[in-house]
Amino acid sequence: MAPSLNPTALLRLLGQWNTGALPAYRELADVVRLLVMDGRIPLDVALPSERALAQTLGVSRTTVTAAYAGLREQGFLTAGQGSRGRTCIPHRSVPASMPGLAAPEGLLDLAYASLPAAGEAVHRAFAEALTELPALLPGFGYDAMGVTALREAIADKYTAEGVPTTASQILITSGAQHALNIVLRTLAGKQDRVMVEHPTYPNALDAIRAAGCRILPVALPADTSPAWDIDAMVAAMSQQQPAMAYLVPDFHNPTGRIMSDLQRRRLARAAASAGTVLVVDETLRGLNLDGVRTAPMSAFSPAVVSVGSLSKSHWAGLRTGWIRADEALIPRFIATRTVMDLGGPVVEQLAAARLIRSFSAPLDARLEELRHNRESLLRLLEKYLPEWEVEIPKGGLTVWCRLPSPCSTAFTVLAPDFGVRLAAGPRFGVGGAFEHYLRVPFTLPPEQLEVAVRALRAAQDKLDGSPQLRRTLKPERPAAVA
Ligand SMILES: Cc1ncc(COP(=O)(O)O)c(C=O)c1O
Repeated sequence: MAPSLNPTALLRLLGQWNTGALPAYRELADVVRLLVMDGRIPLDVALPSERALAQTLGVSRTTVTAAYAGLREQGFLTAGQGSRGRTCIPHRSVPASMPGLAAPEGLLDLAYASLPAAGEAVHRAFAEALTELPALLPGFGYDAMGVTALREAIADKYTAEGVPTTASQILITSGAQHALNIVLRTLAGKQDRVMVEHPTYPNALDAIRAAGCRILPVALPADTSPAWDIDAMVAAMSQQQPAMAYLVPDFHNPTGRIMSDLQRRRLARAAASAGTVLVVDETLRGLNLDGVRTAPMSAFSPAVVSVGSLSKSHWAGLRTGWIRADEALIPRFIATRTVMDLGGPVVEQLAAARLIRSFSAPLDARLEELRHNRESLLRLLEKYLPEWEVEIPKGGLTVWCRLPSPCSTAFTVLAPDFGVRLAAGPRFGVGGAFEHYLRVPFTLPPEQLEVAVRALRAAQDKLDGSPQLRRTLKPERPAAVA
């Protein structure tokens, strides 16, 4: 049976949905649509029955019936049994009234910042990994620390970057998100504060919340010089003594910024004196588009815990990442990990080891393609959306754009009508911040980027022409900020 959302939980998510600007059924449908698009209502979840929701919201049953009918029509709710449809996302092409904006396979996905596998290299690595498999088959196949060949390859990579590392300092995980969850559950207690850059990577915020910790956001300066407000971070650490700081100094998601060595040194020193564990997410470190030279954060303190992944540099389908930490911490991470799973799949790890050891030409090709995409996206934004302020990313996969008015959520709700799926700015922050911002990935090829940006232009025009629409499509009520 599909999981279901109870009426009280939905009421909480809806916030102040009923502004009176449009008929109630339209407002209700619009806000539910936003919550689904934004991932705040998961997919394949049964919504409350019409009767129960009408009672909880204090509206007539006809209002809920009409809202659900609208959602079904727009493809956000399955037909379901009786009135209990399940949430889904529509797959359709853009309306015929938008010539030139047809997305070839339904929606263009700008909500994910991820690339297809890097050429033939990943396939080849798997084929070669299979030839190594027979040597490992006599073993049990359980290895909570990870396959030695991969741990060695990762350790050598750090050593080559000037941070001497042994395989005993590396724990292999199923990606960086898994790694972060292990670190949080090992080193942060419930109610502990975790300092983050604001904005930051949304799934990290979710992981911190899920671990029962309190988020301590420190704003990244709107101006990029300097790219991080280290004084504010040092002050937050010394005054609030967070147990942990989760940072993305290497091509920060969503801004694409890179932290200077000087700033890294200051942060590492401040964290040590505040007793804060610095957890550094290096998932995007390989996507160094401008060839900026910085040392990994662990070069500045042996206490730094780094998490990394092959998801962005190679392929997210490998589901392979790691934790690099002081050797003494590794058994504690393993103890946490084995509550969740008993190790990663072996062939993926063998393939990952090969990719790390041999992956320079395909990575160069990937970087070249990304530079080209970045240039195209910046040019298209300047051409079609000159009123947006755009921060030029030094690396990574995304451009962080400031909109002329705080309507990021409204954009996200409207965008599918124009063939594009987006993540709203507030997903990257806490307390409803970043309504003024939108993250646009440059992971699609230039032709598709052109279609996407023209669709964004059309959505912007629709919003510009309808202040009422902007008011109606409001974000959820801001959550409390610790
Ligand atoms: C900063 C950051 N960390 C972690 C992840 C997730 O990585 P993984 O696929 O290895 O779990 C992403 C994916 O977008 C990311 O941008």
